[in-house]
Amino acid sequence: MKAIIPVAGIGTRLRPHTHTAPKVLLPVAGKPIVGHILDELVSLGFDEVTFIVGYKGDMIREYVKSTYKFKANFVEQPEMLGLGHAISLAKDHHYNDDGVLIILGDTVFRADLKNVFERGETAIGVKKVDDARRFGIVELDNQGAVKRLIEKPDNPPTNLAIVGIYYMKSPKLLFDCLDELISEKKTTKGEFQLTDALQKYLDRGEPMRVFMVDGWYDCGKPETMLLTNRDLLDGKLSDSEGYGAVAQRYPGSVMIMPVAIDPSAKIENSIVGPYVSISAGTNLNSCIVSNTIIGENADVSTIILEDSIISDNAKVQGNLFKLNVGDSSEIVLE
Ligand code: UTP
Repeated sequence: MKAIIPVAGIGTRLRPHTHTAPKVLLPVAGKPIVGHILDELVSLGFDEVTFIVGYKGDMIREYVKSTYKFKANFVEQPEMLGLGHAISLAKDHHYNDDGVLIILGDTVFRADLKNVFERGETAIGVKKVDDARRFGIVELDNQGAVKRLIEKPDNPPTNLAIVGIYYMKSPKLLFDCLDELISEKKTTKGEFQLTDALQKYLDRGEPMRVFMVDGWYDCGKPETMLLTNRDLLDGKLSDSEGYGAVAQRYPGSVMIMPVAIDPSAKIENSIVGPYVSISAGTNLNSCIVSNTIIGENADVSTIILEDSIISDNAKVQGNLFKLNVGDSSEIVLE
C-alpha cells in the first residue's frame, strides 16, 4: 500500500513556530503532527510513502528516516503552486500503482480506511461542516456517488467538505488529469487545485464515492493546534500514559490527566494538566500549566501558563512576587 503526503507548505499561519521548523513537525499530544498520520499508515500496512517537500524539507527527511522503516521517497516542490501541482510531482513514483492514498501532512484523522481499501473504489474523505465556503466541497447524486467537486465555492450547494484524504484507484488517470490542468494553466484562487483535477477525473467517467471522516483534527493555526492537542489527548489517538506512570516520575508535582510528557522532561514543583504536551529534554520548574504544548529542550520556570505554545529551545521565566501587605489593603497584580 502506498501513499503521497504533501508537506511542502510554509505554514505562515503558525508563525513564529514555523520560523524554525516545518508545520508538520510541530508536536501535538506527544509527537509531531505528521507522526500521528504515519503511525496510522504503518498500522494499516503501508510500505511506501512519497513526501512532497519544500520548506525545511531536510528536517522532514531526517525525521522520517530516523523514525520509520517504510520506503520513503522525497520529491522537491520548488514553488508553492498549489496542492494539485504538489501531487503531480509524485508521478514518477506512483503512475503505475494499483491505487494510492493521498493525505495532507497537517491533517490528523480518524476514519475507517480499511473499509475504503476493501471496496477498492476511488473515494474522498468528507465531513459535514457549518460553513463550507472555506473548503473544497462535493455534491452527490441520489445513489451517493460524487457528481461534482467545487473548490471554495461562494454559494456552496452542499456542506460536505473535502477533508484532505483521498483514495485514488487509478493514479494513472489522476496524473494525466493533473498534467492536463497544469498544461492548460487552469488555476483556481491562484493555485493548481487538486479538486479541479478530481473533477476532470470524474468527467472521464471514473466512479467516485465519499467516506465519512469522524475525527478531523486540523493543525493549521495556533487555536486549532491546541484544540487538536486536546482532542487527541482525550481520545484514543494519543500515546498518553496512565496517571500512575506519570505521577511516579514526578513525585514533587501534581499531574492532572490527560497529559503527554516525554520521559526525559524534568518537572519539579509544578501543577501540570490537563491537556499538556511536553517534549524531550524540557525543564519545567515551579509552574502551573494547562492546555499547552511545550517543545523540546525548553526551559520554563515560575509561571502560570494556559492556551500556550512554546517552541523548542525557548526559555520562559515568569515572576514570583514578594509582598509585605498590611491589614485591610487591596492588591491586584496584573
Ligand atoms: P496549507 O494550505 O495548509 O498550506 O496546505 P501551508 O503552507 O502548510 O500553511 P499556511 O496556509 O501557509 O499557513 C495543506 C497541506 O498541503 C501542503 C502543505 O504542506 C500542507 O501539508 N501543500 C500545499 C504543499 O505541499 N504544496 C502546495 O503547493 C500547497
